Amino acid sequence: MTQTTLRQHLQAQQTDTDLMILMEDIATACRMIADRVRHGAFAGVLGAAETENIQGETQKELDVISDEVFQQIVGGNPSLAALVSEEVDEVNWRKEAPQAGDFVVYYDPLDGSSNLDVNLSVGTIFSIVRLDAAISPQADAVKIKGTEQVAAGYAIYGPSTGLVITTGQGVDGFTHHPGSGEFLLTQPEMSIPAETQEFAINASRYDMWDTPIRGYIDDCLRGANGPRGKKFNMRWCASMVADVHRILTRGGVFLYPADSGNAAQGGKLRLMYEANPMGMLVEQAGGASSTGTGRILEVAPTGHHQRVPVILGSRDEVAVIEGYHKK
Ligand code: AHG
Ligand code: MN
Ligand code: MN
Ligand code: MN
Repeated sequence: MTQTTLRQHLQAQQTDTDLMILMEDIATACRMIADRVRHGAFAGVLGAAETENIQGETQKELDVISDEVFQQIVGGNPSLAALVSEEVDEVNWRKEAPQAGDFVVYYDPLDGSSNLDVNLSVGTIFSIVRLDAAISPQADAVKIKGTEQVAAGYAIYGPSTGLVITTGQGVDGFTHHPGSGEFLLTQPEMSIPAETQEFAINASRYDMWDTPIRGYIDDCLRGANGPRGKKFNMRWCASMVADVHRILTRGGVFLYPADSGNAAQGGKLRLMYEANPMGMLVEQAGGASSTGTGRILEVAPTGHHQRVPVILGSRDEVAVIEGYHKK
């Protein structure tokens, strides 16, 4: 039986060489972050770093270390115009005069980092856009819509290390093979069933939700005798990577709405580092992604740390939730 490496897969998809090298650099950064995560308490990297990021969150040591690893590995890529990170206030320009064809990479170096102390799955999320014209380094230049992404993906650091990617030709999953160091294709052509009976939401925020979200969850919880006519299961990992990985594997819907506790920021999850890349992956796997009132990928960014409401997963279920927003 032959096995397909990440490079062989990208070549088979006729991926542009510069994009392929960039994605391999990202995969290398993810392998190195996986190694740091794996060492956990032995490396003395669990717990808070006692610093706060631009999002107002207390950073974990590994948030900071993962960001440094990503910068060290991916930052050296010759076609890279800029790195834009959840953990860094400003855009990290890598070229003085970025040209058409250069890339901007948006990334969440460590997603779900509150799970580190309890040894649950975390991940790294990335989004790649390609400049269609030369630009001068300025903040405005990185407010690029999700529809412009040429590739997106995430690494998941769970019982095994996985890498899930799209270059706009479907979604494929790879597993890190420790012996060779390669990511090998293990879940080709991932696809999300259109229908589901499973939702993911942080239900402890129930009293802060608005009417559409509360109405939708209430109706799901009423089970087979309620308006939905079926019983729903619930999962919440508090790690978007883990929740989206489950949805790409067996379907479901994920919600992090804007609510009265986060409305001032526009929601909790970040458009560029979380919503857009996951939105592209989910759409490429046949699912849908929405703010509740429109497609995530079409949101015109106002800033690179912008937050948005996120609803994504099984296509028909996302449409049902959008229906509650129209009532
Ligand atoms: P990050 O660790 O990158 O800041 O992201 C955390 C996000 C996301 O991964 C997860 O879905 C959500 O925040 C969890 O939020 P709650 O703490 O409200 O459960
Ligand atoms: Mn964070
Ligand atoms: Mn995150
Ligand atoms: Mn993060």
